[in-house]
Amino acid sequence: MSDYKYSTLAVHAGQYPDPLTGAVNVPVYLSSTFELTGIASDRGWDYSRAGNPTRDRLEEALAALEGGLNAHVFGSGMAAITALVAPLHAGDHLICSHNVYGGTARLLDQVIRHFGIEIEYVDLANLDALRKALKPATKLVHVETPTNPLMQLTDIAAVAEIAHAAGAEISVDNTFLSPALQSPIALGADIVMHSTTKFLNGHSDGLGGVLVGTKPEHGERFYLMQKAMGGILSPFESYLVLRGIKTLALRMKQHDENGRAVAAFLAEHPKVKTIFYPGLASHPQHELAVRQQKGFGSMMTLDLGTREAVGRFLGALKVFLNAESLGGVESLASHSATTTHAALTEERRQEIGITQGLVRLSVGIEDSEDLIADLAQALEAV
Ligand SMILES: Cc1ncc(COP(=O)(O)O)c(C=O)c1O
Repeated sequence: MSDYKYSTLAVHAGQYPDPLTGAVNVPVYLSSTFELTGIASDRGWDYSRAGNPTRDRLEEALAALEGGLNAHVFGSGMAAITALVAPLHAGDHLICSHNVYGGTARLLDQVIRHFGIEIEYVDLANLDALRKALKPATKLVHVETPTNPLMQLTDIAAVAEIAHAAGAEISVDNTFLSPALQSPIALGADIVMHSTTKFLNGHSDGLGGVLVGTKPEHGERFYLMQKAMGGILSPFESYLVLRGIKTLALRMKQHDENGRAVAAFLAEHPKVKTIFYPGLASHPQHELAVRQQKGFGSMMTLDLGTREAVGRFLGALKVFLNAESLGGVESLASHSATTTHAALTEERRQEIGITQGLVRLSVGIEDSEDLIADLAQALEAV
């Protein structure tokens, strides 16, 4: 299967006919428990927290799409990040991208720190800062690229090389681009993480998360986290993601095309003070985006100056919905300071550049002319 091209993998990896009935779609096995065939013997499944046939197929598909050895899915992106960091021990040191998704920072600062794990935020675009921060106790460098919402990039290959030389692993949150547009494992990452809630599901109808590993011990570790902590993905939501990824390649083409068209329009608009989109030649890391990514995607953030201006803009939009989240077929716009980054103090937000005038767009797969017309009329209201 791994010899096939990407669009073929998206349709077929893990999604072969059901051996029992020939059903072309993966059946949803709504069973918490499975009949055993004797004492300590079964047909491959015994209890759905430990394993479920529908979930197994999704894990097979996601491992193939990311080019990994194994994959384990969880009930949300946050549950996946929890399973990523929970195996760390007191005294271990974790380095994290300095302007990650607010929920990741909330988990690390308000929960994980309590277990005696040392957490340090580092601007990973600055490789010298990374070299300085690494120490013998560093076990993991967690990278989000592009970051949410400032669209800052990290050079995955360079960070992997530096982290590996220091004996640490690197995990990459690939949520903003999906495996269709960025392959962190091919660039040297050890673990890939996604909120499958976003582009992988693609239809805003279910939450989920995944950890894709490259070594047998990752599989053992993340399986233990599923079984011991229990934050697993349900069979039905596993099915929704399987269904979503069949069209991943097609959707990402349209997201990417629309993202480029919308960004080009906004970059020239006088009411937009700054636009953060790595696909524009004016983005300070455009060259890295070209080198590292297979497309630019459809996530971008605008600076409209003030919170009031963002309020007027969001109120005037007709096709874009004023809603949190991203990666669905529909276009969304959200005020970062009071949504994705509400968990941070205003001081911390200022420190990392998340000002009250920022609005993040997740450009959907509608007709780009309608999207641009909608943005144009909403900017009139600013
Ligand atoms: C980059 C990134 N990582 C992780 C998450 C968390 O995912 P979930 O909302 O599925 O828990 C999000 C959610 O917005 C995100 O944007």
